[in-house]
Amino acid sequence: MAVLVTGGAGYIGSHMVLALTDAGQDVVVLDNLTTGFAWAIAPQAKLVQGDIGDEALVEHIIKTHNVDAVVHFAGSIVVPESVVDPLGYYLNNTVKSRALMAAVVKAGVRNFIFSSTAAVYGNPKTQPVFETELPSPISPYGTSKLMTEMMLRDSHLAYGLNYVALRYFNVAGADPKGRSGQSTPRATHLIKVACQTVLGQRASMDVFGTDYDTHDGTCLRDYIHVSDLISAHMDALAYLRKGGESGIFNCGYGKGYSVLEVIGAVEKAFGGPVNKKLVPRRAGDPAAIVAGASRVREILGWEPKYADLDLIVNSALAWERHLQRRNAA
Ligand code: UFG
Repeated sequence: MAVLVTGGAGYIGSHMVLALTDAGQDVVVLDNLTTGFAWAIAPQAKLVQGDIGDEALVEHIIKTHNVDAVVHFAGSIVVPESVVDPLGYYLNNTVKSRALMAAVVKAGVRNFIFSSTAAVYGNPKTQPVFETELPSPISPYGTSKLMTEMMLRDSHLAYGLNYVALRYFNVAGADPKGRSGQSTPRATHLIKVACQTVLGQRASMDVFGTDYDTHDGTCLRDYIHVSDLISAHMDALAYLRKGGESGIFNCGYGKGYSVLEVIGAVEKAFGGPVNKKLVPRRAGDPAAIVAGASRVREILGWEPKYADLDLIVNSALAWERHLQRRNAA
């Protein structure tokens, strides 16, 4: 019995592979290595370099490795990029997920865990936002993921494919044992960018929009440590294997921090200022989004261990220093 992890060479996927192999499970990774790194994959896992849209390949992997569960991370993840290239996002995130699911259904695998996103909510009517709120994405990224959720719902009803879709809020931080972290050199995510700036890898960083309707005018987000996010996946896997009901779960802590507060946390962790410029809003950004995250605790039994912004920022900064040392060597 093995778990197929798509996108297992990427930031979040590589942490899942570590958690699975740490737990002694057999893992096969399918990744095309366009944004991921082979070195990020735990050595006990097997890597197949290929495309999730290749149905014959996916079926072959499932049969040869006796796969009983698929955890699907592969996809494109940058909100503003999706605004500029919507069809690229619909191809990578929706069309290819459809192909992957077709192969999974055909091969008879019943358990499927999907990386969805808080971006499906768009600008939510309530804060915190619960899973019961009607999704209303404001970026092609959010729409591309919502369409996959819909395909899962329909495939569950039609073919008995059991699934858990996890709606991630803002994922950050790195493996506490220092084995993986956010490694994309041109990453666009706030904590990574702020860490790169404070370490002198960028001359300065932009703060996108200071006129939002929030306490300091910058956007509010719910930052979740990557290791806590992964423990929700491990809970979801155990839940599905035990025959749990398919469903959708928010993954966040239920507390929002502004862009300026996050930059402040990076300054505190580093002990010096982040050189920043206040610039106009970025396309596709909701003002605020904070998770209503009781369902994941109640139904999946999730218990986060790193729910602290300073912890998250410290681990992200430690990983950035590690990358800097490695690149200099
Ligand atoms: N930001 C800056 N400067 C930067 C980078 C980001 O001001 O250099 C701001 C953004 O404008 C936004 C906030 O920081 O207000 C967070 O931006 P990120 O790019 O870090 O993350 P997003 O909120 O755009 O998106 C992330 C994930 C999505 C997920 C979403 C859920 O990439 O997959 O969080 O809230 F859906």
